Amino acid sequence: MDMFNVKDKIVLITGASRGIGKAMALGFHDAGAVVYAAGSKEESVQWMASQGINPLWADFSQPETPARLIQSVYNKEKTLDVLINNAGIALYSKAVSISDADINNIMEVNFKSVFHSSVNYYKEQKKRGVPGTIINISSILGIIGSNQASIYSATKGAIIQLTKNFALEWAKSGFRVNSICPGYIETDMTSHLKRHPGFLNAVKNAIPQKRLGKPEDILGPALFLASPASSYITGQCIIVDGGLSIP
Ligand SMILES: NC(=O)c1ccc[n+]([C@@H]2O[C@H](COP(=O)([O-])OP(=O)(O)OC[C@H]3O[C@@H](n4cnc5c(N)ncnc54)[C@H](OP(=O)(O)O)[C@@H]3O)[C@@H](O)[C@H]2O)c1
Repeated sequence: MDMFNVKDKIVLITGASRGIGKAMALGFHDAGAVVYAAGSKEESVQWMASQGINPLWADFSQPETPARLIQSVYNKEKTLDVLINNAGIALYSKAVSISDADINNIMEVNFKSVFHSSVNYYKEQKKRGVPGTIINISSILGIIGSNQASIYSATKGAIIQLTKNFALEWAKSGFRVNSICPGYIETDMTSHLKRHPGFLNAVKNAIPQKRLGKPEDILGPALFLASPASSYITGQCIIVDGGLSIP
C-alpha cells in the first residue's frame, strides 16, 4: 500500500551494525529505501556494503561525531528524509557503583549524540526548505522504573522529552519527531539474561506475550513512523514491549 511506502527515501540509521539497528537497516533496504547505516567500529560496518547498505563509521563517545556524520550524508545526497537515532549503550549497575566517567560516557552516547545529530539534521533541512522525520529509539525504561539501570533509564526518559520538545519546536518546518520505546529485545544488550535462566524466565513470565521481542519487532513501527501513514503523528512514543508496561 502506498501509504506505508518508504521507497527511495534517504534514511540514516545510527547504531546499525548489530541488533535493532541492523534489523531496521536491512528492513528499510528491503522496502526500497536508500539506507546509510552507522556503527562505532570500522570492522562492525563491513558487512553493510555487501548488502547494498551505505556504511558509515560513527563513534558517539566523541563529541564531534554527530556533526561529521550528518555532514557525510549531505556530501553524497541532496537531502535526508529520515534520521533514526538508535545507537545506545546500557549500564546495568547499582547507583552507588556508578562513576562520573560512566555518567559522562552514557550521556554522550545515549543523549548528547541524539540532541546534536537531530539539531544538525534540522539545520541542514531548514537551509534547504524541506521537511524531515526523526525517530528516536528510547526504551520502556524511560517510562517505568528498574532497580539497576538508573542512569540508562534517565537517558531514555530524556529522549522521550527531547522527542516532544523537538516535535513542538520544529513542527512549523514540517518536521515530525517521534520515538519508539522497546521492551526486552533479544540483542547483545540483553544477552546477560541468557546467563541467568531464572531471571530470564521471570522476565518472560512478566511479559503478557510470554516472549522477548526480536529486533525485527521494532522494524514495523519504524517503517510506519517513517512513512506517510503516520503523517499526522508527532511528539509521540510507541511502546513495543509485548504488553510488559501495561499499567
Ligand atoms: N535490546 C533491548 O532490549 C532494548 C530495549 C529498549 C531500548 N533499546 C535501545 O535500542 C537501541 C539499540 O539497542 P540494541 O539492543 O540493538 O543494542 P546492541 O545490539 O548492543 O547494538 C548497539 C548498537 O549501538 C552502537 N553503538 C554502541 N556504542 C556506540 C558508540 N559509542 N557510538 C556509536 N554507536 C555505538 C553499536 O555499534 P558497534 O557494533 O559498531 O559498536 C551497535 O550498532 C539502543 O538505543 C538501546 O538503548 C534496546
